[in-house]
Amino acid sequence: MKVKKAVIPAAGLGTRMLPVTKTVPKEMLPMVDRPVLQYIVQEAVAAGIEDILIITNRGKDVMEDYFDYAPELEDKLMQAGKDDLIELVHKPANLANIFFVRQKQTLGLGHAIYQARRFVGNEPFAVLLGDDIIRAKTPVTKQLIAAAEKYHASAVGVQQVSDEAIHRYSSVAVSPLEERVFSVSDMNEKPTIEEKFSNYAILGRYVLMPEVFEILANQKPGYGGEIQLTDALETLCHREDMVAVDFEGRRYDTGNLCGFLEATLDMALDHPETGAWLKAYMKDKVSKF
Ligand code: G1P
Repeated sequence: MKVKKAVIPAAGLGTRMLPVTKTVPKEMLPMVDRPVLQYIVQEAVAAGIEDILIITNRGKDVMEDYFDYAPELEDKLMQAGKDDLIELVHKPANLANIFFVRQKQTLGLGHAIYQARRFVGNEPFAVLLGDDIIRAKTPVTKQLIAAAEKYHASAVGVQQVSDEAIHRYSSVAVSPLEERVFSVSDMNEKPTIEEKFSNYAILGRYVLMPEVFEILANQKPGYGGEIQLTDALETLCHREDMVAVDFEGRRYDTGNLCGFLEATLDMALDHPETGAWLKAYMKDKVSKF
């Protein structure tokens, strides 16, 4: 079993990041010097993915432009002899075979993933949520692919979250298989504390068997009146094997202001051009608190 395709849903309206997301897709917000979406695409590529489908929406064409060449700009940079910048500008277009499809109605994550059925065909595929950046030594998608291949099963990426936070995620019923890998027997979306199966929450990464599309085709709206991917995965894990991987890595929800700022600061601290400066700036700030 080889996983060569990935789907990145990036069709949301970005309501938690207004007003900027009125015209700039949240996936295109700058994380130091490149958009959030580039980190997600790079994670997929680093996991061996060759074909990527980005699910998009009206007003998000700028995502397509970003993963294209920019001849006018590149000519100017060439004339100015700025080869290093040409490489930076060129790079996103050459990362992978990137395809786009629009989700014509904003009906939920499950509905967004369903738009990928023709692109995916009859193969297992990875899903990387377009606003979840995960920094990890081994890309989380790679960690999931390894587990999916070993167990011939779908795999979801999980970490434990607090009782206070579980209502923001999906909660998974798990039993241990080996270190960091569990068998999944049930799950629910946005549970109350009473409804949760465990504190293991799915955090933005999946490797799914194509059978999920048959389920999504008839999936009824669930939490929030939306067609939920979690509801389809609940059915899938009752029908066939599914594992959960307690992945190694730090996950940031860049779709909300605080998560976005945490990721920005951590990236900037590690960036060769900004790291030393930011450390000094923060030290000075903190000393005055
Ligand atoms: C989505 C999924 C949810 C998951 C979460 C974090 O929720 O529906 O199951 O736990 O992402 O990856 P959202 O953040 O879109 O409300």
